[in-house]
Amino acid sequence: MVADFELKKLVKPLQDWFDGHARVLPWRDDPKAYKVWISEIMLQQTRVEAVKPYFARFMEALPDVEALAACPEDRYLKLWEGLGYYNRVRNMQKAARVIVSEYGGDFPADYEKLLSLPGLGHYTAGAVSSIAFGIPMPAVDGNVLRVLSRVTASYEDVLKQSVKTAMEAEVKKIIPADRAGDFNQALIEIGAIVCVPNGKAKCEICPLAFLCEAYKKGIVDELPKKKVKKERRIEDRTILILKEGDRVGIRKRPSKGLLAGLYELPGLEGHLSEEEVLAQVKAWGYAPLRILPLTGAKHIFSHVEWHMTGYRIRVDELEKNCTEPLIFAGLDELEKVYPIPSAFEAYKK
Ligand code: ADE
Repeated sequence: MVADFELKKLVKPLQDWFDGHARVLPWRDDPKAYKVWISEIMLQQTRVEAVKPYFARFMEALPDVEALAACPEDRYLKLWEGLGYYNRVRNMQKAARVIVSEYGGDFPADYEKLLSLPGLGHYTAGAVSSIAFGIPMPAVDGNVLRVLSRVTASYEDVLKQSVKTAMEAEVKKIIPADRAGDFNQALIEIGAIVCVPNGKAKCEICPLAFLCEAYKKGIVDELPKKKVKKERRIEDRTILILKEGDRVGIRKRPSKGLLAGLYELPGLEGHLSEEEVLAQVKAWGYAPLRILPLTGAKHIFSHVEWHMTGYRIRVDELEKNCTEPLIFAGLDELEKVYPIPSAFEAYKK
């Protein structure tokens, strides 16, 4: 960060702006630790508008730490379906269980103790500490890194842990002790709705523009700097929709690795021809009656891209001798019971 930039100058304009512009959000009116935590984990994955229905559904189904701690895996995965990064919700249950067993079901009002819970990193521990308990600790996410890089005109690589740690240390020095939660949320909010991640920053309405070094120098669009990440591995896959009457064949993925424990449409490695697919389906012990090729689709994970082709295959309901144990689920069950990740969205329809 620019060494001679006095970060403290941000505090007052940020707070004044937040008092008049903070969005009304369902986790803000009653910022209990549980709500803040759930919302922050969801917000690490997608935008506020997309989070709202997930948050409402999750709170209704699992209104407190005890409910989450006791929830069956398929159920919480279903509530998370579509958000991605499913290990996050698994860790949430682990953390919930620790909170129940070690803290009697109440979140500890202590940054270090929060940080030691499964799945809580510096950002989430800082957000829960400050928003729920008023503890003056920083909550520096991608939004905050963007705002601070621009305000200080810093070209340092925000994907580097050392840069993030240095920014956290700087922010920690200026957090007002009496309004820690509002201060952190104001920084995040400016990043989310003014100093936006995609598209043009709205400098003309930004309360920090008058002291923003990037704005003065005309370099807002160049920041923050992110060094290009390693390329993703590409995997070709063939996805099968096996239909038996009105039911569709799905299977549970292994308990380790990508999309662990979720349900999937059966898939095969590579882009296979109709003949190859039919041979495989027969080898599994099903009697295919009809096969229809489907359009291709792509899904991007953090380290892998799936490039998919697909086939819809009607199989004989009576004649089967299966080695591949599939669950044949009705549309209602697919919708309500089995968590199926968005990677299969193109074929779920
Ligand atoms: N994005 C991440 N955390 C947020 C919060 N607390 N409020 C609004 N947007 C956010």
